[in-house]
Amino acid sequence: MKVMVVGGGGREHAIIKSLKKNPEITEMYALPGNGGIAADAVCVNIGAKDIEGVVKFAQEKGIEFAVVAPDDPLVMGMVDALEAVGIPCFGPERKAAIIEGSKVFSKELMRKYGIPTAEYEVFTDMDKALMYLEEAPVPVVIKADGLALGKGVIIAQTRDEAKKAVRSMMEDRIFGESGSRIVIEEFLTGPEVSVLAFTDGKTMVPMVSSMDHKRALDNDEGLNTGGMGTVAPNPYYTKDVARECMDTIFIPTMKAMNAEGRTFKGCLYFGLMITPKGPRVIEYNCRFGDPETQVVLPMLKSDLLTIMMAVSKGELESVPVEFMDGAACCVVMASKGYPGKYTTGYEIKIPDDLDAECYIAGGKINEDGKLVTSGGRVLGVVATAGTLEEAVRKAYSQTVRVTFENAYYRKDIGKRALAAGKDE
Ligand code: AMP
Ligand code: GLY
Repeated sequence: MKVMVVGGGGREHAIIKSLKKNPEITEMYALPGNGGIAADAVCVNIGAKDIEGVVKFAQEKGIEFAVVAPDDPLVMGMVDALEAVGIPCFGPERKAAIIEGSKVFSKELMRKYGIPTAEYEVFTDMDKALMYLEEAPVPVVIKADGLALGKGVIIAQTRDEAKKAVRSMMEDRIFGESGSRIVIEEFLTGPEVSVLAFTDGKTMVPMVSSMDHKRALDNDEGLNTGGMGTVAPNPYYTKDVARECMDTIFIPTMKAMNAEGRTFKGCLYFGLMITPKGPRVIEYNCRFGDPETQVVLPMLKSDLLTIMMAVSKGELESVPVEFMDGAACCVVMASKGYPGKYTTGYEIKIPDDLDAECYIAGGKINEDGKLVTSGGRVLGVVATAGTLEEAVRKAYSQTVRVTFENAYYRKDIGKRALAAGKDE
């Protein structure tokens, strides 16, 4: 079977490695993939946003199943375009991907269907937004409506900061057109949990929960990043919380999307906050999370291709989706300076006997045929074990064995999760 995965980061590397456990896959392509993914798939230099190019390639190659992983092509309608020429896909159609593509859409969906989330108001008029802020309690959260490379959220500690954020989004358009509509919402507190779920619009199967570490530096200091590490499962996601989320968030979201004529098929990502008043949705994503996928998929015991094909056919109910007991930890190794300025082109050395998975996010093959750094987040070292403590220990014991110049990684991935375990 000929399969292609659209995207080129650590998440896509994890998806490809997991898919390849199925021996029926004879040819695996990554568009565009990267220098590390090249060890596991044929990388084709077609950008993940190039819908026309991707469709043409898929037709020419006779691709039999496609996985569209990143947010941009999903929101732009790549799945619609592939399905229109008869190529079955894993991923939501454009009309369902809007659940991530527009924060206003997702907030209004939650309000209409009573799904618990932060209180909010939507503004298209800057003066009205500024007036509203005169009275709003602080801290307050300002969000640009559209995709903004994960940066469209500003948590303002004071009213002045909040007004500055509104002006920068609506007047200076720092996030481009995304800032023509904004959401101002209540600041919530509590531990955050990521839950990825397979759904075909009829069945909802949450995967093992996880915890992201978004800040650049230890102790959750420094700038926000795409994610510096993850652990699974997330100890704050207890059985009781999971049950409540299923009843008040996951199933209602699936039904709401159906009722809106926007059936969601694919991986729906719930960014949750476990507040003192119960779980609340912070955000939806229309795709696998990065680097959540890097800890979730290694724990999947069932066959990923079978699940993805069942989702695409609307037959998720009929296939097993089982996860191992135990835990996983991913330590992201980044280029020093990320998420600010950094330099690249350094050789990445991975020992042959590494006792962990190594998913490459920012690596390319140079003129000498060597794998060198090419991005801010370079790779993720992932270990699985019987307990979280063991998975964290193992991940770090292997991370120190992977080397490149200017490497930087957090030393405290899993620390908060382990402390939570001890409280209980
Ligand atoms: P997002 O880009 O929507 O994932 O938001 C980035 C981060 O901002 C989240 O992971 C939260 O840590 C934080 N955040 C977003 N919305 C809120 C909120 N209403 N209250 C508190 N923190 C929030
Ligand atoms: N790790 C957060 C995300 O994928 O959006």
